Amino acid sequence: MSASAIPGYAYGAPALARSPVTLDELALLERALLLGDDDRARLKQAGAILGPRAEAILDVWYGFVGSHPFLLESFVAPGGEPDGRYLAAVRARFGQWILDVCERPHDQAWLDYQHEIGLRHTRAKKNRTDGVSAPAHIRLRYVLALVYPITATIRPFLEESGLPAADVEAMHQAWSKAVLLHATLWAAAYTAPEDF
Ligand code: HEM
Repeated sequence: MSASAIPGYAYGAPALARSPVTLDELALLERALLLGDDDRARLKQAGAILGPRAEAILDVWYGFVGSHPFLLESFVAPGGEPDGRYLAAVRARFGQWILDVCERPHDQAWLDYQHEIGLRHTRAKKNRTDGVSAPAHIRLRYVLALVYPITATIRPFLEESGLPAADVEAMHQAWSKAVLLHATLWAAAYTAPEDF
């Protein structure tokens, strides 16, 4: 599916709120994360490997969420069954996110969409994009905790490339930093601006 055809995927949409984080602040955050030009190049390299494997990666991640009821409940309307339509709609955007992590430049449009994704995990905007009545909020603790599985589970897919171990390691390090950067920016939606 082309990105523009993914329901609810609003990357670059003019109506999005501006991120509370400025590009200068982002640069400082990237320095704190030791995320530099080498990582950007390694993410591009990883994108060529992970893009074609997105469905298999999503199978792993959805298997993980699905096997933990305290996570799956975010997709379940009170008293109901897991909402297949919601799961599928989010899955399409999640697949695009894998590519976006690897390929999108960290400019204002990227920053604004990170803020939007943060909001979509919270009371401010969860459920609205897909018009569902699942729980209204995802706890920040789980968003932060999932950085580890979302990072660790990527390594076997990078190894599948057959590239030398040093290349796999460099791509994996870059992926780890990028996921942590995303979760950090999403935390702005949970935090008073003066504390973030
Ligand atoms: C590092 C951790 C996480 C990552 C990388 C991640 C990634 C994503 C992405 C890419 C989207 C789609 C954004 C879009 O609309 O374009 C999304 C939405 C969503 N995620 Fe997460 N997520 C994380 C943590 C969690 C946790 C802990 C839960 C709880 C089980 C969760 C449940 C959801 C739900 C329910 C949506 C749909 C929100 C809506 O109604 O719009 N996510 N996530």
